[in-house]
Amino acid sequence: MDGLMEIKGKPAKLCEEPEDDLSLGRFAMAIFGGAGDLAQRKLLPALYLLYLKGRIGGDFTLVGLGHTQLTDETYRELAGHAVKEFLPGSFDEKKCAEFVSHLGYLSGDMGDAKLYAALSRKLAGCSAAGGAAPNIVLYLAVPPDVLETITVNLGQSGLCAGALAGKIIVEKPFGADRASAARLNALLRRSFSEDRIYRIDHYLGKDTVQNMLYFRFGNSIFEPLWNRRYIDHVQITVAEEIGIEHRGRFYEQAGVVRDIIQNHMMQLLALTAMEPPVGFDADRIRDEKVKVLRTVRPAPANGGPSAVFGQYGPGNVGGAPAKGYRQEDRVSPASDSPTFFCGKFFLDSWRWSGVPFYLRSGKRLPGRRTAIHVQFKAAPLQIFGGSCEALEPNALVFDIEPREKISLLLNVKQPGISRKLSSVDMELDYEDSFGARQHSPYERLLIDCVRGDLTLFAREDEVDTTWSIIDPLMKSWQDGPRPEFPNYAAGSPGPEEAALLMERDGRRWRDI
Ligand code: BG6
Repeated sequence: MDGLMEIKGKPAKLCEEPEDDLSLGRFAMAIFGGAGDLAQRKLLPALYLLYLKGRIGGDFTLVGLGHTQLTDETYRELAGHAVKEFLPGSFDEKKCAEFVSHLGYLSGDMGDAKLYAALSRKLAGCSAAGGAAPNIVLYLAVPPDVLETITVNLGQSGLCAGALAGKIIVEKPFGADRASAARLNALLRRSFSEDRIYRIDHYLGKDTVQNMLYFRFGNSIFEPLWNRRYIDHVQITVAEEIGIEHRGRFYEQAGVVRDIIQNHMMQLLALTAMEPPVGFDADRIRDEKVKVLRTVRPAPANGGPSAVFGQYGPGNVGGAPAKGYRQEDRVSPASDSPTFFCGKFFLDSWRWSGVPFYLRSGKRLPGRRTAIHVQFKAAPLQIFGGSCEALEPNALVFDIEPREKISLLLNVKQPGISRKLSSVDMELDYEDSFGARQHSPYERLLIDCVRGDLTLFAREDEVDTTWSIIDPLMKSWQDGPRPEFPNYAAGSPGPEEAALLMERDGRRWRDI
């Protein structure tokens, strides 16, 4: 049984990578938007976890930048609070105080050259502090409308060349459409070569998302079934119970399609549908993702019945009243920004011809669930008599959030003398098998970036291809007849048309 895992109960035997391979050495990072929502909720806690696990140590410097007026001291306090609030289970007062002592802050306008000069001085300071030159990472954790300003200023500042030349991480959404993404790519490419540009999508840092590749290409029994002959349809859901929280300004520009569909969901679709790569290195995997994304048929000009947009109104979530989207902070009372989308997509390839991929995502739904549901065709003949008309077809379900697990839905004989079948789940739960651990997808992605591994980051042509799918969809939404918003209550499963989209095809959405 060496190296193998038992499906249930017993802990799995893990193949540990040696610790040394995962420590980052000398490393300096600048976070633009260092006091923003993303930095506080995700980046600072992930860096703290790396510190706690000994992946980064004394040789690390972090500079936050932003328009919020903070000193080094008040930034450290803010970071300490963020770690405590968002990682309560891992908070250790002493360790956190050590961690924040590596942090500093520069406040200023993102268009002001002085801010970049001050950053250069700080980074040059840690380069000159002796030892090997640090690995420098510039992280743009800012809204899309500021990305261009920062990129232009970085180009003019000398922060992209010479001793300070580092890597750049750019948060999603990368652009607002195909043209703006191309413009941003062109700007970045003036100062950074493609191998120094890390277009981040935190979904790719999740183990269960990566596991789609390991599961498909590490086992021989599923791949022969992974095609139009055996698969009836695939449904991918990213359902959230939370609303837009304090991100009204961002969400008004982005809406659900730019926030989730263009990036997280297209990545999930690509990993589910791609061909086996010829190797496991960054470009071989990204080649296959681009290839399969190119097969996604664009939305027809009139949108038609294959796409449903929604926006939540007031309702009830988890037993408490919840306001509608239009009542949220920094949202227009007449906003037309969609907070729900579902749609049917076809992939024009030999493998997938005729197999619908249904994508669904929304805020303020009845629960939190991210899952990929691969539904196989029903058994061709029901030979067990009348007692089992409702035989469920087999399905493989990859649950990504909030619980990480894989289940195979099977039909088995019920015990006893009857001829009844029951549908049962054969389940692999990550936590049961590998143990609970406090981790963040950003840890893995930051480690990969510092070590120069681009596998889990989007390449320029990948981003361009996803926008080529999204642009016609957004155009049909802008030009077509719009539903009256709000069209679903907070806490409900979305607009009624979403259920109809499936029912018309004789299918149904899986529970959230
Ligand atoms: C982010 C979106 O990229 O992903 C958020 O901007 C969303 O709107 C979040 O809430 C969901 O991520 P996760 O990891 O909680 O599924």
